[in-house]
Amino acid sequence: MLNSGAISPVNIENHQISKELFGMGGLTGISQEENLLIVQGEHGILALNKMSEGIIRIKLFPELLTSRVLDMTGTIAVVKEAEHHFPEIQETKEAYLWETKHVILEISKSDCSLRFMDKAGNKVVNNSLLLWDEKMAVSGTFNVSPDTHYYGLGEKTGFLDKRGERYEMWNSDVFSPHVPEIEALYQSIPFLIVHEPQMAYGIYLDNPGRTFFDMRSQKDIYSIHTETGSFDYYFIAGPQIKDVLKRYTSLTGRMQLPPQWALGYHQSRYSYLSQDEVLQLAHTFREKDIPCDVIHLDIHHMNEYRVFTFDPVRFPDPAAMIQELRELGIRIVPIVDPGVKVDSNYEIYNEGIEGGYLCLKPDGEPFEGPVWPGPSVFPDFTDDKTGEWWGGLHRFYTEAGIEGIWNDMNEPAVFSPTMTMDEDTIHNNNGSPVSHGTVHNLYGLLMCKATAEGLKRNLDGRRSFVLTRAGYAGIQRYAAVWTGDNRSYWEHLAMSIPMVLNLGLSGVAFAGPDVGGFAYHASGELLARWIQMGALFPFFRNHSEQSSLRQEPWSFGPEIEEICRDYIKLRYRMMPLIYSLFREAAETGMPIIRPLILEYPSDPEAYNLCDQFLLGSDLLAAPIYRPGSTFRAVYLPEGTWYDYWTGEGVEGGRSIVALAPVNILPLYVKGGAILPQVEPVSSTLMEGNGNLQLDIYCTGSADNIFELYDDDGESYAYEKGKYNLFKLHLLESSEAAEFSIDSAHLGYTGKWTQWTLHFKNLQITERSQIKGLPDGGTVETDAGVLTLTFPQPKDNVRLRVEIK
Ligand code: GLC
Repeated sequence: MLNSGAISPVNIENHQISKELFGMGGLTGISQEENLLIVQGEHGILALNKMSEGIIRIKLFPELLTSRVLDMTGTIAVVKEAEHHFPEIQETKEAYLWETKHVILEISKSDCSLRFMDKAGNKVVNNSLLLWDEKMAVSGTFNVSPDTHYYGLGEKTGFLDKRGERYEMWNSDVFSPHVPEIEALYQSIPFLIVHEPQMAYGIYLDNPGRTFFDMRSQKDIYSIHTETGSFDYYFIAGPQIKDVLKRYTSLTGRMQLPPQWALGYHQSRYSYLSQDEVLQLAHTFREKDIPCDVIHLDIHHMNEYRVFTFDPVRFPDPAAMIQELRELGIRIVPIVDPGVKVDSNYEIYNEGIEGGYLCLKPDGEPFEGPVWPGPSVFPDFTDDKTGEWWGGLHRFYTEAGIEGIWNDMNEPAVFSPTMTMDEDTIHNNNGSPVSHGTVHNLYGLLMCKATAEGLKRNLDGRRSFVLTRAGYAGIQRYAAVWTGDNRSYWEHLAMSIPMVLNLGLSGVAFAGPDVGGFAYHASGELLARWIQMGALFPFFRNHSEQSSLRQEPWSFGPEIEEICRDYIKLRYRMMPLIYSLFREAAETGMPIIRPLILEYPSDPEAYNLCDQFLLGSDLLAAPIYRPGSTFRAVYLPEGTWYDYWTGEGVEGGRSIVALAPVNILPLYVKGGAILPQVEPVSSTLMEGNGNLQLDIYCTGSADNIFELYDDDGESYAYEKGKYNLFKLHLLESSEAAEFSIDSAHLGYTGKWTQWTLHFKNLQITERSQIKGLPDGGTVETDAGVLTLTFPQPKDNVRLRVEIK
């Protein structure tokens, strides 16, 4: 606990860089060398790459730092190579111009400052200055218009729009409550989306040391500061946020399609203490008819917190436990932390020392720091050989039938005043040593890479799942992210919406908080509301800390249990939608849950709207996040919307009041939507009833497409074409509603033998109004809903319902 001494005048920190500053000065030369455009200033060099038609990389070489060797090595976050096709340089009186298909870059002769413009000549960003001090701390300032809004920056506290905020990028194990003034959390994703009135663009700073993004201190300017390493940034063109995100994820990679079981409900607790307790828990889920796919094992499953061990007393027969759980449709995900117990009788510690796999102090001895097992050493994942060793250790788990791993404490967390490894710790970095301080934010990413690659090697063609706390740009390629040690506060329920939305806008589509809250005590009402919301989040895990009240779905009596059951079932009902959205995220980088600004970029109401979200583009959820609330305002963007529960239609472009007793999550479907659903199962391992239901929300004038994806959910056979992709298209006019199923790819037998289409708000009087019903199809009408049923299409289907 702090007292007022914390704000004593002597304690006020100032992160501004020191007063004596250096800049590029006037432009003295411009040249092309291989794929580099080299801008020579009086006091430094800017080296530029064209990464694609919409991405330009700029790396600063302050004269004080370098000779003339331009090292363009970036971090592992970037997967894209610079292009060799090179735009011509044009000269004007005051500047040089460099033009790609989407960007015109103007380089000023007077001070080497950069202006990025779109092809219409609209100024997009005016990077007026890059300045550095004698310690090589660099500050870049970017001019913006007064009506600018900011998104992205990964996992940060606060609201959706980061205007007026300042954040630090330094992966930190923060157990203190996550409040707005906490500038750094577990993840650091130095990627900012700048939304100007005319267009959006992105800036990605590829620096894994300590950096700052400041949208607060100066009027109409935002600034980016680095303390170590290089100022190496990418300008990413829009014009829409979706374009920026697609380009950013082409640069830093997209997630692999996860196994479908990882999209189910996860139950966790720090800790389930024994094999018996875990089995009991699993049986309770089945007895109570609550779906669940995964149980997590926290640190107590280990033998005195030694990673890659089971406690022989608490977990005497893990393989038998895993087998029994499998029969119940439940998988185990155990925790693996990076800290390896210092213990000369422990094989993994000895291998670490002997193999040279550990991070070293400047004196050459392994860095040791306390974590759960007491004094521990830390693998040096910057070396490929360490990654291979660590990945291989996962055979211990895969041989027992485990396919998912939870990587925690990988900032890395150390129980010391700095909360992490000493900054002068040495990473071998495949023979080009670097200090920890310059690459700190990469540690979690590299650990997850080793884990994911090790699991893949050992899983014989089955997909794996990795969950992580720490990460850097590109973490989406290896792991899902949970947002760390939140609390069972209503405020944290509310905050998890913008946090996960901004993670999605930062390339990390697969993310979620500890549902119910980790520390402190949930109430039944809080749990019910959080489960309602979490059921539609990409990652859905209930996790809590050992001294808090239990929060399994049945912990607060039958009424709350029923709500939890219903909403966990809602998730399984929506699985075809959720899985199709995961496939879209894997293909394009689009998030699973989206802020309204992504779909309605010119609607000012959406700029900072972060107490509601879209699942995909057509389903709008407005969670309740205050105790005792039974109604709330919901903003519906333009168009017609339908209450998911009652089917009632409402015109959007305004706010409405939604009634929400404790068992109701306000949920709206956009007119024109095509919503795929199935009867819920108790686990993705269980067979469903074979019926796919498509709810089609006719409005009279809709024109909407949904891409429905399916495959076996657990192997890589989809990469070889074993999947189904159906392009569903609803097109309405005053004469007819046309619905086409374009079987874009049929490579998988499929689990849906029958399709049932509910056309909402559509009535017929005669069967002859329906054309194109596939063989074996049936027709029913009831209360404004037309239902057509037919076997899974083997070909394209063109349905036409004529309106009389
Ligand atoms: C950290 C994790 C938490 C976990 C605990 C014990 O606090 O964030 O999720 O339960 O460690 O492993």
